[in-house]
Amino acid sequence: MNTTHQTVFLNESIELLNLEPGKVVVDATFGTGGHTQALLDQQSTVIAFDWDADAITRGSTRFQSEISQKKLFLVHESFSKLAQEVERITINENLAVSGVLFDFGTSTEQLMSAERGFSFVGDGPLDMRMDTRLAVMAKDILALVPEKQLELLFREFGGEIHARAIAKAIKQSPVPITTTAQLAECVLKVNHRRSGGIHPATKVFQALRIAVNGELSEIQLALPQAFDVLEKGGRIVSIAFHEGEDRIVKQQFAQWEACNKARKLQKKAVQPSEAELKDNPRARSAKLRGIEKL
Ligand SMILES: C[S@@+](CC[C@H](N)C(=O)[O-])C[C@H]1O[C@@H](n2cnc3c(N)ncnc32)[C@H](O)[C@@H]1O
Repeated sequence: MNTTHQTVFLNESIELLNLEPGKVVVDATFGTGGHTQALLDQQSTVIAFDWDADAITRGSTRFQSEISQKKLFLVHESFSKLAQEVERITINENLAVSGVLFDFGTSTEQLMSAERGFSFVGDGPLDMRMDTRLAVMAKDILALVPEKQLELLFREFGGEIHARAIAKAIKQSPVPITTTAQLAECVLKVNHRRSGGIHPATKVFQALRIAVNGELSEIQLALPQAFDVLEKGGRIVSIAFHEGEDRIVKQQFAQWEACNKARKLQKKAVQPSEAELKDNPRARSAKLRGIEKL
């Protein structure tokens, strides 16, 4: 299993941004810096956000030279604060933004780090906060949210068909569920069948992660801000892995197009090529979309 992040839609997303050298671009989801590196390689100035302090620490070391030359501005903040942070940097530096890139979800580094609690790879605390400044962890949700709401959460954010039975098993557990191994075990008691090679607890973990980090509302808050900071002719490119994420992007893009504020760059979302899927099976649910501001 690959333990380092493989950037999805690397070439396609950079091409879609269509930046001339020297332009300013926002990488709203820095992660391990795969997209940022490609943007720097084509002489863009990058303002990169990540909510995760570990990602920012790693990035500050790796890109020390670009940061000192003001080719890269690394911001430890949610992309839902995009406008205020971009304005702070661009006003000081007299820059205009020509592109914004979103690559939603988690990085492989986050998933592989047992102590962050994002996955059942190894045992760790059920945390799942992307930003450890957030107050509520996944284990708090399991303890505090009533069974019916838990069921809805697993169904809505995870598409989990065993949502009701899993919520019941969690609530009836003789001990509070506070670790990733306990949660995986609880799900396996309800359903132990892998479908399409995917671990039975995958959807429950995904649903909890989305809830802990308020991921869908973060996207809803960020998209209009990305649009506002963009100059005319600038582009927003989005890579989504979850249907809920992609739906928000699709609807927002359609709304801008309907009122002639922007034009979509393709009719349908782009899916990963066979070659990318072979190289990186994690790309299987990825969808790429782009829009240009008019
Ligand atoms: C799929 S990874 C991005 C990978 C990156 N494009 C690369 O090539 O390495 C998603 C990243 O977005 C970050 N993230 C998720 N939600 C965020 C938010 N609301 N604000 C800022 N960063 C966020 C995560 O911490 C994670 O590092």
